Amino acid sequence: MRPVIVVHGGAGRVFAEREGGCRSGVVRAALRGHRLLAEGGTALDAVEEAVRSMEDDPHFNAGCGSVLNEKGEVEMDAIIMDGKNLASGAVSAVKCIANPIKLARLVMEKTKHLLLTGHGAQLFARAMGIPEVPEEKLITERSRERWKKNLEPDSNPEEFQKDLGTVGAVAIDSEGNVACATSTGGLSNKLIGRVGDTACIGSGGYADNCCGAASTTGHGESIMKVVLARLVLYHMEQGMSPEMAADAALNHMETRVGGRGGVIVVNRAGEWAARFSTKQMSWATVKDDQLLYGIHAGERHTKPLGEALASVCEGF
Ligand code: GLY
Repeated sequence: MRPVIVVHGGAGRVFAEREGGCRSGVVRAALRGHRLLAEGGTALDAVEEAVRSMEDDPHFNAGCGSVLNEKGEVEMDAIIMDGKNLASGAVSAVKCIANPIKLARLVMEKTKHLLLTGHGAQLFARAMGIPEVPEEKLITERSRERWKKNLEPDSNPEEFQKDLGTVGAVAIDSEGNVACATSTGGLSNKLIGRVGDTACIGSGGYADNCCGAASTTGHGESIMKVVLARLVLYHMEQGMSPEMAADAALNHMETRVGGRGGVIVVNRAGEWAARFSTKQMSWATVKDDQLLYGIHAGERHTKPLGEALASVCEGF
């Protein structure tokens, strides 16, 4: 099996001035994840690495760059899942850590539980020796500005939600194991303690070697109502290709609950898809020594992997 990785940097609206940063961010994440796969690493390691790369990148709504809750604080959700044995770990409403995806993986590997939230997740992070970072280090000028604008009496928070994202990755490794990882700061000006789709197994992500893996992005409450990631896998189990399954699931979410979003998918044969019902979604994939990436509907750039490694990602 030739390994494949697909990543997304969030569905929504990407303003022109941010397109370059989002494009190089998803490309860098895909290349980093693929490097692990090429060295014989597991799908699980690859999706964690790719998501960490985007959590560290202030262009995305995850880790550093997360949007703020109603009190102006960062509260983050993340999930990781191993398709080999359906093991999964998630955290929700965590504060002051740089990489929630790492904490989610520790929940999976070091506890008997699937999801830790808020104060409990914080205590667990401390027990695991994860360093706390000052909240200010996770907050960008852009997040703070958006939060302030949303507080203005005539603001329309739903308008601002359109340009928000989440980050995620799915992969299949040389042994045929699949995995997914998803991480987010959630919705801008959300209520304190709001838990979104990202932390919920089957909604923010799902992985099963019998079928494939999916990671989702978009309006969390809508995604949870239709359990979007598991719905994509269900459609593949019924015989659909990743692209058809993603479109069918997104279409169901829009017609049934009026929500929009995006999904990335890989199936057990290594076929992949990056589909969205929003205006844009930054995505990238590496398969068969080719890098592909895009943001707008129908946009698909291709580069040989060697050229991409040499030129696309300075500082990679
Ligand atoms: N999909 C991210 C969120 O709504 O929290």
